[in-house]
Amino acid sequence: MEKIQPSLSRQDIICAETPGSPVAMVVFGASGDLAHRKLIPSIFNLFTQDLLDERFYLLGCGRKKITDEQFRESVKQAIRQSRSGASAKDLDAFAEKLYFASGDYDNAEFYKSIKAGLVELDKKHKVDGCHIFYLAIPPFLYSTIVEHLGRASLSCSGQSDSKCRARLVVEKPFGRDLQSAAELNEKISRCFDESQIYRIDHYLGKETVQNILMFRFANIIFEPVWNCEYIDHVQITITESMGIGHRGSYYDQAGVLRDIFQNHMLQMLALVAMEPPASFEADCVRDEKVRLLRFIRSFSPGDLNNSIVRGQYGPGVVDGKHVVGYRSELGVDQNSRTETFVAAKLFIDNRRWQGVPFYLRAGKRLAHKDTEVAITFKKVPHSMFASAGLDDMPSNVLVLQIQPEEGISLRFQAKRPGSKICMSTLNMNFNYKDVFLVDMPEAYQRLLLDCMLGDQTLFDRYDSVETAWRLLEPVLQRWQNDESAPYEYPAGSESTPETDGLIESDGRAWRKLAEI
Ligand code: BG6
Repeated sequence: MEKIQPSLSRQDIICAETPGSPVAMVVFGASGDLAHRKLIPSIFNLFTQDLLDERFYLLGCGRKKITDEQFRESVKQAIRQSRSGASAKDLDAFAEKLYFASGDYDNAEFYKSIKAGLVELDKKHKVDGCHIFYLAIPPFLYSTIVEHLGRASLSCSGQSDSKCRARLVVEKPFGRDLQSAAELNEKISRCFDESQIYRIDHYLGKETVQNILMFRFANIIFEPVWNCEYIDHVQITITESMGIGHRGSYYDQAGVLRDIFQNHMLQMLALVAMEPPASFEADCVRDEKVRLLRFIRSFSPGDLNNSIVRGQYGPGVVDGKHVVGYRSELGVDQNSRTETFVAAKLFIDNRRWQGVPFYLRAGKRLAHKDTEVAITFKKVPHSMFASAGLDDMPSNVLVLQIQPEEGISLRFQAKRPGSKICMSTLNMNFNYKDVFLVDMPEAYQRLLLDCMLGDQTLFDRYDSVETAWRLLEPVLQRWQNDESAPYEYPAGSESTPETDGLIESDGRAWRKLAEI
């Protein structure tokens, strides 16, 4: 296929970035994997880009008995691993902002000592009581920590100034079903109100995911065709080649439906399908997202197997290496029925999307890592080239490539030079790195900066979390009670007959993974 490269004129770039406010971040689980691999390196990036207020400091909290110095060293090492170019000078300067408090999460004394530590550190760094509490710990600990924060009056620190109120950052999944999410929300709401709660879904911080709204609503040419009159179907794919790593005990309780589908997948679907918000204000955007989620047709228990299919990886070969099956992974029950792959067909019952199927698939240990949204348009209603045998021309397809390739491509037909009637399928591609000449920032960087600024646009509001769980409730219940195991697919598969059936029975096919 031919490739056409667009060009970008510098005047076209409108950029505005506000540095973070003077805050302290208290990270629970600071010596853990998430904090070391993602959070703290992202804060370091903000620091090196002058986007961190000079008064910022971070108090790590955890069960490990380590000193400030030991914590600083482990953080420096983690940053060096993720950012080979980090200078020793920057690392030393950043490390001076880091502290560590050890203790048991269920001991009230721990929170008293955190509170006393914050008073002292606020004074030292000239922070005015504005604290962000980040829960980078397993979900079963969320309520314990939040209750203690409330009892120690830490949830209302800085309350005289609304911009400077304590904030709570909670990782997904928020709950494990409708009921547990409601219980968790109720517990959190006793100490923090909605304006203080930042529910993280890191997909919303990805540049390419943020771009969905810009692409749709900052251009005039797409909106008129963004509906059931012109669109045949939409495919959203989140596949990974990696397995579950060291997270077996968490993953076996979650599965891909809770880990990815309820949050990353449905949030992307909402961005692709929602109506234009009145403005780019947090609640305007979040109102439209939840409205869209409410329009998704409920799964019908009688027809579940034709709408959603689950699989689990067996042994296989990924990137040329033999890998074990899911049930042999560390921390996984050897008879586990947890799904590592899911494919679903959804309909959105509103005027814009009447009759347009949305095919969604997400899974681990597949042939490639690939996240994309592909919009397939309807075929031309009548081909004037039919007499030359060109009556069935391929559809236009618009692909929003989320990762690892980051870009947009549009497939269309054009005349090939030569004989009078001769056509080719072309792909017009735009690639972020080629055009903007920058490395794409880590999603957490965007989200952490927004949280410091008190901007909730890219965070999940409870009503959208609740709506997503409500949609999946019949599926979770069915799978919990269903004694049969998910079908097994060999690790490294490109596709599987079970999921192919879901789309092929409609006369369509999945896009090949990593196809542009
Ligand atoms: C996380 C899931 O939310 O997203 C992981 O818990 C998954 O299981 C990860 O691997 C994928 O994120 P990304 O940014 O690599 O697509």
